[in-house]
Amino acid sequence: MRAGTALTIKGVLVKVFITGGTGHSGSYIVPELIAAGHEVTGLARSDSAAAALSALGAKVRRGDLQDLDALEEAAADSDGVIHVAHRQDLLPSGGMNAVAAAELPIMLAYGEALAGTGKPLVAAGSIGSSGQLGRPATEQDPALPVGKEHRGTLRVRNVVETAVTDLAEQGVRSSVVRIANIAHGTTDRVGFLPTLIALAKTQGFAGYPGEGTNQWNAVHIRDVAPLFRLALENGPAGSYWHAVSEEGIAFREIAEAIGGRLGLPAVSVPLDELMTPGYFGFLANIVTQSYPASNAITRQKLGWEPRQPRLFADLDNGHYFPAS
Ligand SMILES: NC(=O)c1ccc[n+]([C@@H]2O[C@H](COP(=O)([O-])OP(=O)(O)OC[C@H]3O[C@@H](n4cnc5c(N)ncnc54)[C@H](OP(=O)(O)O)[C@@H]3O)[C@@H](O)[C@H]2O)c1
Repeated sequence: MRAGTALTIKGVLVKVFITGGTGHSGSYIVPELIAAGHEVTGLARSDSAAAALSALGAKVRRGDLQDLDALEEAAADSDGVIHVAHRQDLLPSGGMNAVAAAELPIMLAYGEALAGTGKPLVAAGSIGSSGQLGRPATEQDPALPVGKEHRGTLRVRNVVETAVTDLAEQGVRSSVVRIANIAHGTTDRVGFLPTLIALAKTQGFAGYPGEGTNQWNAVHIRDVAPLFRLALENGPAGSYWHAVSEEGIAFREIAEAIGGRLGLPAVSVPLDELMTPGYFGFLANIVTQSYPASNAITRQKLGWEPRQPRLFADLDNGHYFPAS
């Protein structure tokens, strides 16, 4: 199915289809788009999701990520697509590779709908570890390995990001917004930060690997929403953008910040004990990675400026540490 040329009014897209509009990032992206004059339709797989989207001011399209024909149809009916939903339900059985693998056919379905139209598709991605680069990752770096190779294959997320940007060759104005490892804010319930906080509470200390000099990047989730809008409105085809406001914070400092607010010590976990049950949970494989990432190109080309509190200031807001 092919859609026609993108409809615009004074350069503003009028019909945007979004998946994941009820989630941590999507629930800020929907009002951001509406405030900018776009008509937003969100995918909803349940009555509660439909109600949440309506409350945000979006129209509702009932459906599920597993129905590729419906996603293709919804993309064809729109002037642009933002995809931030993900099959988190696959995480326990198949890990992050299974979650990412479910994304690939969805991106190809959007490609079927949007090929040759010049319409925008903006999908969520992740900042991968720059490994041996010896410098922060930039938006010009191709999809980066996330953590170690997994059973001899590169992680599937890279394949998905590349598939999205490759759609540029088929006449889709496609781009990927790579969201920081730590996307903090009041709606962060299952991200890395709440996981680290929960582990610290369980263990009685906030752990960090070895010297803890490896760096994790961060962004306030409210700052992510305008970046998706700018990429949708103005982003050139085949681009990567970095939703990163803090290039790299030493893991030890993150542990000290968490421990300090919980009244617990920050403790180095020897590298050969990281896999010990309970220490880092599902983060054990990636906790030693370093993820410094620049946002210079994103700010320069899209005019994006993060304005929300930085990580430690947001920790001081207290929402991560409710009195129990
Ligand atoms: N948050 C971070 O820290 C972070 C960091 C880097 C990258 N990312 C990436 O950014 C993207 C968005 O993350 P997020 O944290 O905003 O997501 P999230 O809060 O986990 O929300 C997931 C969204 O996907 C929807 N969804 C899940 N399964 C679905 C299905 N089968 N059919 C239809 N909708 C379904 C959910 O809808 P319901 O309301 O129906 O559950 C929800 O709106 C993901 O690709 C994630 O990997 C996130």
